[in-house]
Parts: sequence; C-alpha cells; structure tokens
Amino acid sequence: MARRKLRIGFIGTGGIALSAHVPGWQALPDVEIVAVADVRETAAQGFVKATGGRVQVFSDYREMLKLDLDAVDICTPNKVHTPAVLASLQAGKHVLCEKPLATTTKEIRKIGELADRMGLTLMSCQHMRWQAPSLALRDWIHHGGLGEVYHARVRAMRRAKLPPRPGFIYERLSGGGPCMDIGVHALDAALWMMDFPRPVRVSGTSKTNFAKGRRIPGQWGDWDHEGFDVEDFAAAFVHFDNGATLTLETAWLGHQVEDEDMSFQLYGLRGGVKWPSAEFASVHGRTFTQGTLKIPETLDKAHTEAIQAFHQCMTRRKPSLVPWTESIQVIAILEAVYASQKKGREIVLK
Ligand SMILES: NC(=O)c1ccc[n+]([C@@H]2O[C@H](COP(=O)([O-])OP(=O)(O)OC[C@H]3O[C@@H](n4cnc5c(N)ncnc54)[C@H](O)[C@@H]3O)[C@@H](O)[C@H]2O)c1
Repeated sequence: MARRKLRIGFIGTGGIALSAHVPGWQALPDVEIVAVADVRETAAQGFVKATGGRVQVFSDYREMLKLDLDAVDICTPNKVHTPAVLASLQAGKHVLCEKPLATTTKEIRKIGELADRMGLTLMSCQHMRWQAPSLALRDWIHHGGLGEVYHARVRAMRRAKLPPRPGFIYERLSGGGPCMDIGVHALDAALWMMDFPRPVRVSGTSKTNFAKGRRIPGQWGDWDHEGFDVEDFAAAFVHFDNGATLTLETAWLGHQVEDEDMSFQLYGLRGGVKWPSAEFASVHGRTFTQGTLKIPETLDKAHTEAIQAFHQCMTRRKPSLVPWTESIQVIAILEAVYASQKKGREIVLK
C-alpha cells in the first residue's frame, strides 16, 4: 500500500511563502500542500493558483488547524508568529516558522518550551545557514581554521531597500525594523559559526534617520512615512560569556556605496574569515597567508535546503537544526539593542 503523503498547511501566503517556501516543499516527493490560511483572500487565491494542487482555503488559521495536518509553515508578519505557532503546536502540528521565530525572548521561551513538552519539531527558517558559503565556512571553522574567535563584525546594511509592506514598517506587526528583518539573519549566521556563546552585555542604538522623510528614495517603492514607527538603522556592541565581542550594524536606508552589505567577519587567534565571500587571512611562521576558500556548488536554494532539513528533523524525530535555544540568544541581543536605546545605557543580560 502506498504511504500517505505528509500534509502541510500554510499560514500566510505572501511574498516569501510563494517565492521560497512553495518551491522548497514541492521539491519533496512525499509531501503535499493541502491547506492555506490568509486574512487576505486575494493572497490565498493567488497562492492556490500558483501551487496548482487541491488546496483548501481559510481566512482564519484556527479553522485550518482543525484539519489533519502533519506540519504548518508560518509565513505571516513577525508579530503573528507567536499566536500562530502556539495554536499550531497546541493542535499537535510540527512547525516551520519564518524568521524571527518571535520578536521577544519571553515569547520564544513560551513557544519553545511548549514544543519541547509536546515533542514537536519547531524550527525557525534561518535559511542563510543553508547557503553554500555558510555550510562550508562552518565546516572549515570546526576543522580549526580560525582557532578561538575573539571578535565578530556583523553587517546587514542596505542603501535604499526598505520593504514598504505593513508587516515590516509598523511595530505592531513587525516588532522592529532592520534588526528584526535582516539583522536577525546576519547575526544568526555569525553566532552559529561561533557556536553560540552566551551574550552577557549589550550597548546599542536604534534610530529612524531617513524613513520619516524623503531624502533617500526607496528602491522597492514608497511607504507610509507618517505611520512608519520602527528604526531604519541600529548598531550594537555585544560582550559574550567567553570574553568574545561582536559589533552589529543594520539598516534599510543610509549613504553607502554598496546596494547591500550582508556580511560578517570573524577574527580568531589562528585566522580570520569573511562571510559570504569566504576570504581568509592567517600567518604561518613569518609568512602572511590569504586567499579564498573554494566553496562546493552542490546545494539547492537555501530555503529549499532549510525546508528539507526541517522535513528530516520532523520525519526522523531528530532535534531541530535551528533550536529555539539559539533563536532566543539572537533575539536577546536585538531586544537589548532597543532597551539600550530607550534607557540610554548598557544592558546586562541575565
Ligand atoms: N527569509 C527571508 O529571506 C525572508 C524574506 C522576506 C520575509 N521573510 C519573513 O517572512 C514573513 C512574511 O514576510 P513576507 O515578505 O512574505 O510578507 P507579506 O506581507 O508578503 O506576506 C505576509 C502574509 O501574511 C498574511 N497575514 C497577515 N496576518 C495574518 C493572519 N493573522 N493570519 C493569516 N495570514 C496573515 C498577509 O495577508 C500576507 O499575505 C515575515 O516574518 C518576514 O520576516 C523572510
């Protein structure tokens, strides 16, 4: 008898769901997308048209969760993640959720502990971990390429790319600006390569320098300048429990020549390396060595790889490859950046 396919439901059927998650699930032969929920009917209909299968449509995800589903893929604005994850776990479904898993440490702890109690897979789709340079560099670092990492310089800086959609520019939906949108990506990837030392002190700033005015035209279209209420720039200095430090810079708008600089640099006692360019520097005796690591080009798109990894964790009952205990460290730093701006001082993390 043929085995029943795994049944997947989507919550949120906007840009990232269609462009990156659907191809990821469709690459898996034992999976079918059977249901979608979106508060916007047009988005859900567009999704069904694009996927082509027999898909049930809901405007309220709680109704969809009554179906017999194996897993739920959550692609809503950030602030909807926690209620949607909670409801999905309570309904006994495994959960893949777009980044950030949630925008506060309190929420992450709540959903993480629930997933653990229920024995369900919970994974935040930090797809940059599955980019070819990320996997190759992590492997190289674990083989001793850097030695002890004492400092990281992390950048997620855009010149004029501010996502104009409501889910990004209103705090009530996004929980924050570039910190929660792109800072979270670079920070997660850098900390992952550093094996997640625990952050203990954070000094940060978060500002709205340009988004309220019109001095920098957005390359992704205009936005609601009046209603915009998140930062468009943030920077931070972080201390970790192992003595290492990290600087973070993230922005949607700013005067820089690069269209986008999504990168980090790790400084170790034996060598240094840049991500994603994979350039390295070291010294052997009195000779300086440097070059570019050769990255194998065997991977699929990073989102597809991430979805395949989630599928394996869920079906083989393996631990999540983006455990909530790691996501909570990333959000602890970003939360502290906002707190530091508000209180005008360094924040000590418990
Ligand atoms: N990994 C990446 O590279 C990447 C890129 C873009 C966005 N994202 C993340 O993906 C998520 C969605 O972003 P997007 O760009 O697809 O946004 P989007 O605005 O295109 O889509 C969000 C969808 O969620 C729907 N929605 C809102 N509230 C809902 C609710 N209560 N129930 C059901 N549906 C609801 C909206 O109607 C919309 O269709 C965000 O968390 C964002 O941070 C990740």
